[in-house]
Amino acid sequence: MFETIAIVGATGAVGGIIRKLLQEREFPYKNIRFLASKRSAGTTIEFAGKSYTVEEMTPEAFQGIDLAIGSTPDPVAKEFVPWAKAAGCIVVDESGFWRMDPTVPLVIPEVNPEAAFTHQGLIASPNCSTTQMVQSLKPLHDAGRVRRVIVSTYQATSGAGVGGQRELVDASRAALDGADFTPETFSHSIAFNLIPQIGSHKHAGYTSEEMKMVFETRKILGDESIQVCPTCVRVPVSNCHSESILVETERKITVEEARELFAATPGLKVIDDVASGKYPMPKDCDGDDDTYIGRIREDLSCENGLAFWCVSDNLRKGAATNAVQIAELLVRNGAAV
Ligand SMILES: NC(=O)c1ccc[n+]([C@@H]2O[C@H](COP(=O)([O-])OP(=O)(O)OC[C@H]3O[C@@H](n4cnc5c(N)ncnc54)[C@H](OP(=O)(O)O)[C@@H]3O)[C@@H](O)[C@H]2O)c1
Repeated sequence: MFETIAIVGATGAVGGIIRKLLQEREFPYKNIRFLASKRSAGTTIEFAGKSYTVEEMTPEAFQGIDLAIGSTPDPVAKEFVPWAKAAGCIVVDESGFWRMDPTVPLVIPEVNPEAAFTHQGLIASPNCSTTQMVQSLKPLHDAGRVRRVIVSTYQATSGAGVGGQRELVDASRAALDGADFTPETFSHSIAFNLIPQIGSHKHAGYTSEEMKMVFETRKILGDESIQVCPTCVRVPVSNCHSESILVETERKITVEEARELFAATPGLKVIDDVASGKYPMPKDCDGDDDTYIGRIREDLSCENGLAFWCVSDNLRKGAATNAVQIAELLVRNGAAV
C-alpha cells in the first residue's frame, strides 16, 4: 500500500466524492492528508471518524506524500504536479491539463488498465463525458471496429464543480421568483435553459470540451483513425451526464449483439425496454459507479450504424471513481511504496 496518501482539491465537488469513495472502498493507507487553496486551508474535514485540518497546497506540502489524487482546476494541476513528482509522489490527476501529454497514460481501468503501468509518476483520468462514451465504445470497437461516432451530450451542472451545482439552484430560484440573476459559473442562466457551449472555442467551431472527446477517445482506444463529431450541451440537471451516441462500425453489429456486448462488459449496465418506459435517466444513476446504456437501436440512415443512450454519474465514474480505481490498480500490482 501507499503509506501516506493525499487528496489535492479535497474540498471540491470531485474531492468530496473521492473522500467518500476512499472510505466506502476501504482504500488502504496509513496516513491521509487533505490539500486545497489558501481559501480553505485551516478548515476541518471529517473523515473515517476523525477530524483533519485542510492544508494549503504549497511545494513543501508534498514532502512525505506517496500518492496524491488531484482534482483541481487545470492551471492548479499544471503547477502542483511537478512539485509532487519532485517530492517522489505518484499523482493520479483528474484535470485536463496533462491528459494529452504523450508521456502521461490516460486510463479507464475497465478499458486500458495496462497503460497505467507505463507511468512516469503521473497518470491522468479522462474527461467525464469522454469516460462514459469510451466505456460504451470499447466492446463495440473490439467486436466490430468503431469508425465514426456522432455524440450529443446533456451535461449536468455538477460537471462545473461546486459552483455549477450551486448556480443551478440559485438561478432556478431567481427565475421562479421573477428576480434578476447574474450567472457566474455559466455564461448564461442555466435555469429552464440549455447552453450549447461547454468550454471555450477551440477548433473549427468546436469547443474545448468537444475536442477533448475527440482526442481523448483516440488516445484511450489507441486508434487515431476513429472519427468523432461531438456537440456538448449544459442542461439544468444537477448530476449525471447523458449522451445520445451514434456509432458506425466496420462490421455490422446488430441490436441483439450490442445488448449482449454491453451487458457482458464490467462497468456497464443495460436498461432497455422503451415499450415499458424503461431506460437510464440521470435521477436514477446519481450515486452509482456504473455507466448505464439504453434505447439501443439500429440507425435508420446508415447500414452499420447503431444508436444508443448512455448515462453516468460524472462525479463518480466520470471523475472520482475512475481515479480511485486507478490508484487501486497501482496498489494491486505492487507499484505502491
Ligand atoms: N465535476 C466533474 O464532473 C468533473 C469530472 C471530471 C473531471 N473533473 C475535473 O476535476 C477537477 C476538479 O473539479 P471539481 O468539479 O471538483 O471542481 P471544484 O468543485 O471547483 O473544486 C476545485 C478544487 O480545487 C481546489 N483549488 C482551487 N484552486 C486551488 C489552488 N490555487 N490551490 C489548491 N487548490 C485549489 C479547490 O479548493 P478551495 O476549496 O480551496 O477553493 C477545490 O478543492 C477539474 O480539473 C475538473 O475539470 C471534474
